[in-house]
Amino acid sequence: MPHDGALPAHALAGAAERPLGFYLHVPYCATRCGYCDFNTYTATELRGSGGALASRDNYADTLMEEIRLARKVLGDDPRPVRTVFVGGGTPTLLAAADLVRMLGAIRDEFGIADDAEVTTEANPESVNPAYLEELRAGGFNRVSFGMQSAKQHVLKILDRTHTPGRPEACVAEARAAGFEHVNLDLIYGTPGESDADWQASLDAAIGAGPDHVSAYALIVEEGTQLARRIRRGEVPMTDDDVHADRYLMTESALSAAGFEWYEVSNWATSDAARCLHNELYWRGADWWGAGPGAHSHVGGVRWWNVKHPGAYAQALGDGRSPGAGREVLPAEDRRVERILLELRLADGCPLSLLAPAGRAAAERALADGLLAGEPFAAGRAVLTLRGRLLADAVVRDLVD
Ligand SMILES: C[S@@+](CC[C@H](N)C(=O)[O-])C[C@H]1O[C@@H](n2cnc3c(N)ncnc32)[C@H](O)[C@@H]1O
Ligand code: SF4
Repeated sequence: MPHDGALPAHALAGAAERPLGFYLHVPYCATRCGYCDFNTYTATELRGSGGALASRDNYADTLMEEIRLARKVLGDDPRPVRTVFVGGGTPTLLAAADLVRMLGAIRDEFGIADDAEVTTEANPESVNPAYLEELRAGGFNRVSFGMQSAKQHVLKILDRTHTPGRPEACVAEARAAGFEHVNLDLIYGTPGESDADWQASLDAAIGAGPDHVSAYALIVEEGTQLARRIRRGEVPMTDDDVHADRYLMTESALSAAGFEWYEVSNWATSDAARCLHNELYWRGADWWGAGPGAHSHVGGVRWWNVKHPGAYAQALGDGRSPGAGREVLPAEDRRVERILLELRLADGCPLSLLAPAGRAAAERALADGLLAGEPFAAGRAVLTLRGRLLADAVVRDLVD
């Protein structure tokens, strides 16, 4: 990774014609949820490591340095930014004015397209109407709340600190503030969650009136508190069959309420309500990820930043790129990656991407009812509902 972050000419060739998205990572949380292995730090975790440099007080200014670096690296090509996604961590632990200033830096350096999608993630307990109004006035038009569950005993296992009902109130507050697009993140299959609990969560989420829902099976990540608790036998392990049942419940409740799946874990009420930023990732577009541990991709070159907020601030303070490493993806890796990502989309992936062994696997998946017949005849691999339940296994076979 060169110190100035410069990209090879081949990565920048034709860049002006490609859409560009920005991901801004905010690596702070008030407390750490037991299941989460994202690159985020509580105040206690930061104490004594990185000191003032890692502090969230000057974080926005540090991150804006990276946005200015991005402008130098990407050059003067006029390509207004199509999507901005502020994620975390808990972006809403920062002052709303800080999020608006970071967005302002992108506007100043690159320009933001008139129809850009500008999202922030938000924890339900960390916003109020005034905060949301300030974000809306500052140019944000989409907000994604981490609801996870409507049931107190499930929230407790997940270490969530908001009370049931608060995420639904957040949706109303966001709508009142003028947000066009509102997402709720849900998690199913938490130990101790029953079918009735999950149905209640779906009903509560739908009743709140978001235009997008992301529903994820709980993943027990190695090294997390949840994994340790399961190993000690304090909570039961998650169950694949339960996950499958809950997924079917999710599809049925959301489709009955007018949502349509467009990626295995994502449903929206219309094309306009889809998360354009995620679609840029899934379709291999260019994005710049700013912040500690953030990943970027421009024209087949991928790189990632140092993980710790202190090391990140140090690099930018010294006038260096915070990039820790990078790779140029060989054509074969790009092909495999396209299959991995596109097969999870409702549009599926072109059969022409498959090698002979993958093509044979696709024929078998079609015969087994895991791929849909009509798109297949038209040259695309599209998962059926049963295929979505087994998406990871189908993908593994097709990349052969
Ligand atoms: C990176 S988190 C950040 C958003 C915000 N801090 C929050 O917790 O709502 C984004 C979403 O990822 C999902 N998530 C995180 N860890 C997960 C895990 N181990 N299994 C399933 N979903 C997970 C949660 O639904 C969460 O809302
Ligand atoms: S609040 Fe969100 S980012 Fe923070 S620890 Fe919990 S799930 Fe992870």
